[in-house]
Amino acid sequence: MLKPNKLANKNFLSSLDISTEEAFHILELAKNFKNKKSSINLNDKVLGLIFDKSSTRTRVSFQVAMSRLGGTTVDLNPVTSQIGRGEPIRDTARVLSRYCDVLAIRTFKQTDLEEYAKWSSKPVINALTDLEHPCQALADFLTIREEFLDFKNLVLTFIGDGNNVANSLILCGALLGVEVRIACPKGYEPNSVLIKKAYEIYKNKNLLKITNDPHSAVLGANVLYTDVWSSMGEENQKDEKEKVFNGFSINSDLVSKADKDAIILHCLPAYRSKEITDEIFESKNSRIFNQAENRLHAQQALLSCLLA
Ligand code: CP
Ligand code: NVA
Repeated sequence: MLKPNKLANKNFLSSLDISTEEAFHILELAKNFKNKKSSINLNDKVLGLIFDKSSTRTRVSFQVAMSRLGGTTVDLNPVTSQIGRGEPIRDTARVLSRYCDVLAIRTFKQTDLEEYAKWSSKPVINALTDLEHPCQALADFLTIREEFLDFKNLVLTFIGDGNNVANSLILCGALLGVEVRIACPKGYEPNSVLIKKAYEIYKNKNLLKITNDPHSAVLGANVLYTDVWSSMGEENQKDEKEKVFNGFSINSDLVSKADKDAIILHCLPAYRSKEITDEIFESKNSRIFNQAENRLHAQQALLSCLLA
């Protein structure tokens, strides 16, 4: 068992910020929080939330997670705070980290998140950037483990845009030793630097595959996962991407090629009839809402580790 203080006061900017041992520890703790086998009192600790992009799940699950841990949150609206008027990140970070015990930040550039972390005296959590969504990946693998009990011989196939969610799935999959296949249109592959990092982590290099063919990628897969085709900030690419991603929708044809017990995941929000059909979204093998619930448990575990 991991010593509880190993992650204390660390940043979580990327799935690369935790080790394999730490990833398993967070998942185990999350399971225990979910089953009410763990309870920790953070004694009025305060989480500051700064969200430059919209959010339903991440914002609320962080708020509820802190409340369950006996802490509280402050949600800073970038438009009505001085952030929107251009106060430098280095100043905001130095001030907020004197009030708050931890910051969760959703923004565009990973380098801006890193700038917050550089100047903050308290841990900073990535609540989604254009590059990564590591909190999402923790909840996803919690959901997968809940279903299959362990990760041995499991295949997770992600179909869609090789964006933030796919990048974090690759890294977290590498840490946990899960086979990850990404099927995306040409030119929409995951970040090449992160792919390289994932290959460095995987003990078995055959466990990561990037392809442009969704049909071969789903063969025998145990988990089928997708995300929106146009992410926040890419609204002007919507029409073009809908054309390019034609054929990359999780539908009954693709599901029929996966393992017969394959589960369906989606980080949400979803656009039915685009990246996933309504039939598959609502099908009995969909675990999409368990996955959304697990954001709460995974983040409770993460917060309790960082603030221990
Ligand atoms: N999956 C996810 O991060 O959802 P929100 O954008 O609603 O936070
Ligand atoms: N890729 C999506 C994820 C939303 C949770 C986006 O960045 O908008």
